[in-house]
Amino acid sequence: MGADAIIRIEGIEKTYDLGEVIVRALRGVNLSIEKGEYVAIMGPSGSGKSTMLNILGCLDPPSAGKYFLGSENVAQMSDDQLSAVRGRKLGFVFQAYNLIDQLTVLENIHVPLFYQGRDLLDCREHCEKLARLVGLGDRLDHRPKQLSGGQQQRVAIARSLVNDPLVILADEPTGNLDSKTGVEILDLFDELNASGKTLVLVTHGDEVAERAHRVVHMKDGVIEREVRQRKVQRQTERQKIEATAKRESRLPARVKN
Ligand SMILES: Nc1ncnc2c1ncn2[C@@H]1O[C@H](COP(=O)(O)OP(=O)(O)OP(=O)(O)O)[C@@H](O)[C@H]1O
Ligand SMILES: [Mg+2]
Repeated sequence: MGADAIIRIEGIEKTYDLGEVIVRALRGVNLSIEKGEYVAIMGPSGSGKSTMLNILGCLDPPSAGKYFLGSENVAQMSDDQLSAVRGRKLGFVFQAYNLIDQLTVLENIHVPLFYQGRDLLDCREHCEKLARLVGLGDRLDHRPKQLSGGQQQRVAIARSLVNDPLVILADEPTGNLDSKTGVEILDLFDELNASGKTLVLVTHGDEVAERAHRVVHMKDGVIEREVRQRKVQRQTERQKIEATAKRESRLPARVKN
């Protein structure tokens, strides 16, 4: 394990006892994720990807094994302790956005802070800044139903950032979006990772896997193999436009026209 590992799991198992059948959704998973890494989790349906992400995200306790998040051993924690850790250290993005319909964009972004007893009046500036970061500075008072799918996912991403989490975990965050909007959301994740955020994304799509530093392939509740990607310097659409503008501004006036 590298010195910078912020997630380390060892021998993680998850068993669902349904009476007549016992489902072994995870059968001894070991994984270590370093600060600043971008990890994609792939694998066939039912291989345990969401189960693993839910455990990494402290949404669900493992049946056995060790889980260190930063310096804390979270595998043995009670539900209350887990939700406190979740609130402080983790950000989530779900396939179905999971926004609250009655709340505005700004209020939805504020929700995790609300649960910590913090008033919107005191954190308004911070929440507005995140709305601008995801390109929704002009939609603060809209409600989820007044937004496109891509915009709703942007709200969910801003909400996941509101606690300045150690890690952002996302379960098929582009699964409900058309491919162009999906690319825009992946560009946003690229920007977050470039600014230092650690990302763990569950995906079915190769386009996500291409962007990640490492792809973890799961099968039947275990990690079948891991592939480290050659680090390709990608340009997001926004960076491409900025680079073009910069180049053009450097050209002599007569070449410009
Ligand atoms: N709450 C539950 N109770 C019982 N079995 C469950 C539960 N959640 C998941 N499972 C089982 O655990 C296994 C792994 O499920 P999981 O949702 O992690 O798969 P996945 O890789 O995310 O699949 P998909 O790509 O379809 O989302 C499956 O066999 C599933 O039926
Ligand atoms: Mg799943």
